Amino acid sequence: MRKKVTIVGAGNVGATCAQKIAEKGYADVVLVDIIEGLPQGKALDILQSGPIIASDSRLIGTNSYEETADSDIAVITSGVPRKPGMSRDDLILTNMKIIKDVTENVVRYSPNCIIIMVTNPLDAMAQLTLHVSKLPRNRVFGQSGILDTTRFRTFLAMELDVSVEDVSACVLGGHGDSMVAIPRLSTVGGIPITELLPKETIDRIVARTVKGGGEIVSLLKTGSAYYAPSAAVAQMVDAIIFDKKKILPCAAYLEGEYGITGAYVGVPVKLGANGIEQIIELKLTPEESEALKRSAEAVRELVNIMKLD
Ligand code: APR
Repeated sequence: MRKKVTIVGAGNVGATCAQKIAEKGYADVVLVDIIEGLPQGKALDILQSGPIIASDSRLIGTNSYEETADSDIAVITSGVPRKPGMSRDDLILTNMKIIKDVTENVVRYSPNCIIIMVTNPLDAMAQLTLHVSKLPRNRVFGQSGILDTTRFRTFLAMELDVSVEDVSACVLGGHGDSMVAIPRLSTVGGIPITELLPKETIDRIVARTVKGGGEIVSLLKTGSAYYAPSAAVAQMVDAIIFDKKKILPCAAYLEGEYGITGAYVGVPVKLGANGIEQIIELKLTPEESEALKRSAEAVRELVNIMKLD
């Protein structure tokens, strides 16, 4: 039986996620949005690409949650994206109302699903969903680390003129200005980038990575990135559905790991059929560890705004 993936929010990120997952052909997709006709129209459009791309995935669009029942995975992308000049954190008050309502509906119909948070501010929204859903932490996590590292990997490959496939990168922390790139654990063909590039170049690339989402927002002017975020979601869905046990950076709820308790922070995890099956604890230098703790503190301050009881 094919797996079932619900995607809430049929905007840029949600619809592109639906397309990427449907193209693989191994899961059926339910696309949910509050705008009448929008998820239905987009689902039908993607469905009609099936014969061309040889995908038997069934897609439906809906404005209610009945059709989402018994989903294996729910991807939450509903909410407003930022506009030029806004930080992800500026979205919190608007998006928290949406995410609370969406989470309640998702778990009402799929009480055992795995939830992947995409809506920003992502770490805080993941914590809200963990709180509202009462799901265990291995089933609620966020897509952010893959996006931050894929940006870092892209810029490194451009700089060194090498295949993106040979570049692996390590970025930890919250999905915002406090993210922590770890150059000594970022490699090209196994060689640390610290041996391949001067510090000033690495610093420049790290700075561009940290502002990577903002760069796209200021170019688009009417929304934020969605192709790379959707590719990241599709990779996570793959890892879960095929129980790949891939080591990927995700926003995970820490309970003592890295000396941090009670906050979502981007860290490497093992992703498989049970969601986060292990949190990988890297040995960090005192400076890196401090930067990660500061990043967690920034997430915590944001979470405090929501006054979760
Ligand atoms: N239930 C379902 N869908 C909703 C709800 C809700 N309560 N509220 C809003 N939506 C829908 C909107 O109708 C819209 O179609 O969420 C969709 C959001 O789509 P876009 O505006 O295109 O935003 P997008 O670029 O997809 O970003 C969505 O992902 O990356 C993050 O920062 C980004 O928080 C933003 C989210």
